Amino acid sequence: MHEIIAKQGLSPNVTRLDVKAPRLAKIRQAGQFVIVHRAEGAERIPLTIADADPEKGTIALVIQAVGKSTRDLVAMEPGEFITGIAGPLGKPTELIEKGRALCVGGGVGTAVVHPIAQGLHRQGVSVHSIIGGRSKEWVIFEQELRQLGEVTVCTDDGSHGRKGFVTEAAKELLSAGGIDIVYAVGPVPMMRAVVNLTRPMGVHTIVSLNPVMVDGTGMCGGCRVTVDNQTFFACVDGPEFDGHLVDFEGLMDRLGTYREFEQRATHACESGQCKVGLH
Ligand code: NAD
Ligand code: FES
Repeated sequence: MHEIIAKQGLSPNVTRLDVKAPRLAKIRQAGQFVIVHRAEGAERIPLTIADADPEKGTIALVIQAVGKSTRDLVAMEPGEFITGIAGPLGKPTELIEKGRALCVGGGVGTAVVHPIAQGLHRQGVSVHSIIGGRSKEWVIFEQELRQLGEVTVCTDDGSHGRKGFVTEAAKELLSAGGIDIVYAVGPVPMMRAVVNLTRPMGVHTIVSLNPVMVDGTGMCGGCRVTVDNQTFFACVDGPEFDGHLVDFEGLMDRLGTYREFEQRATHACESGQCKVGLH
């Protein structure tokens, strides 16, 4: 059982839960995730470990409330207990040891970029983060990333930082040269746009993929992705891959397959047919 120690709303539909998990707080590495089992009978949800405090024995989970299970999770309050957290899962991020890295975070994907930037900063790598959201209230982890290097904020409507997509700022920075590697995490179209920028420039680009996961152990095949024309399981072979080799169209198709089920579950929840209400 894992006690929720703190809860913070980061954006209109993104919540941070700091949860007691001393072993995970000590051993987690950048890029790794956990599978959270809120309560008996609840769906298991894969979530990145966005931050950890080994002294307090806590990890930070960042949840975008998009369907029934994530809404149930963010409805929990400090003092309540999560039944199970399995992990750390997945391969740690391939961190360079020197040079200059560009970290691109789109929306809630910025929470996944944060531990990568932390890991790079610890190695002594110079980190420039470009993070974006629809408008000011959707930008997350800005202050945390500013502790780790330079930050450029972009909003679609120009309400904070510069106006436009993160890819526009990334294009300018990459064109100026001097970037050794790019880490990009966010909506699939954003990651695809970033790799389309870096491919002709020959800048190695790592993306974090978010296919639907079920068991998180490589057994169910739910999270299969195609990379370099081969099938991989994001939960055990990833979730990070060489962006220049990823089949983004295939990933989008598979994500679309589950949307109808999620909509039905959300509708049932909204009509009062689920155990925990919407908040
Ligand atoms: P969003 O749609 O609000 O976009 C956030 C930012 O990404 C935008 O402000 C823009 O700067 C950039 N962006 C979006 N579309 C782009 C495009 N076509 N070209 C260039 N830049 C673009 O993001 P959100 O609502 O926070 O996230 C939604 C999606 O992100 C969900 O589908 C979710 O599954 C996915 N996601 C992915 C990961 C991952 O590990 N890759 C993690 C969390 C969430
Ligand atoms: Fe089942 Fe990856 S989640 S194989």
